[in-house]
Amino acid sequence: MKLMIMGPPGAGKGTQAEVLVKELNITHISTGDMFRAAIKEGTEMGKKAKEYMDKGQLVPDEVVVGMVKDRLSQPDCEKGFLLDGFPRTIAQAEALSKTLDEMGIKLDGVINIEVPREKLLARLTGRRVCKSCGASYHVLFNPPEKEGVCNNCGGELYQRSDDNEETVNNRLDVYEEQTQPLIDYYKEKGLLININGDQPIDKVLADILAALKK
Ligand code: AP5
Ligand code: ZN
Repeated sequence: MKLMIMGPPGAGKGTQAEVLVKELNITHISTGDMFRAAIKEGTEMGKKAKEYMDKGQLVPDEVVVGMVKDRLSQPDCEKGFLLDGFPRTIAQAEALSKTLDEMGIKLDGVINIEVPREKLLARLTGRRVCKSCGASYHVLFNPPEKEGVCNNCGGELYQRSDDNEETVNNRLDVYEEQTQPLIDYYKEKGLLININGDQPIDKVLADILAALKK
């Protein structure tokens, strides 16, 4: 399957994607994770991206589009993929559509996780992420079995530098201005699958899997 998952920051895209790609045996493509990896490696692109990410702004379209285009051409995407955090602007969506047309690929669906804005700040400021495998936890809503340690791999958990209140509020404003218009864009294409994300994590997953079977 060729899928995309969207929703505001903190909606649970990464949490659901981690399980979905295993269930469906497809490749996870998270632009946020790719930028964080580039920052860790200290590449030029990583340094540039960090400036935008720390302010809660989007990295310029041309940087993201080129990176995703390269990623989609890799062999592990042939079995199917889940795009997470891309596209995030209408220009990115149009670039993706062009790239997929050139590759002779069609998207099967766009999963849109809906959560009211007032719930998102607490989700993001309480998030902890595994340094090694990237798994997401929450100090209250999804705590690891052992404090500060990843259940999957034993890695150390940390707080993302963009998960402070000020940056989160900017990210939510940017989402509403630049990414929310994609909901209508994909609805018009008949690809949109709305999922209630304001439920327990396993219930959200069950709803996504049920919707994909239809
Ligand atoms: P990115 O990494 O994509 O961040 P985001 O979209 O802001 O999304 P998050 O990762 O914050 O949230 P999520 O929905 O994955 O939530 P999660 O599952 O972790 O992007 C970061 C930055 O990179 C951007 O700001 C931008 O600068 C740049 N960037 C990336 N892509 C770009 C692009 N295409 N164009 C331009 N710039 C780009 O869950 C959040 C928390 O809630 C966790 O603690 C989790 O445990 C908890 N939780 C999850 N589900 C539930 C539930 N059902 N109930 C209760 N708690 C839950
Ligand atoms: Zn881990």
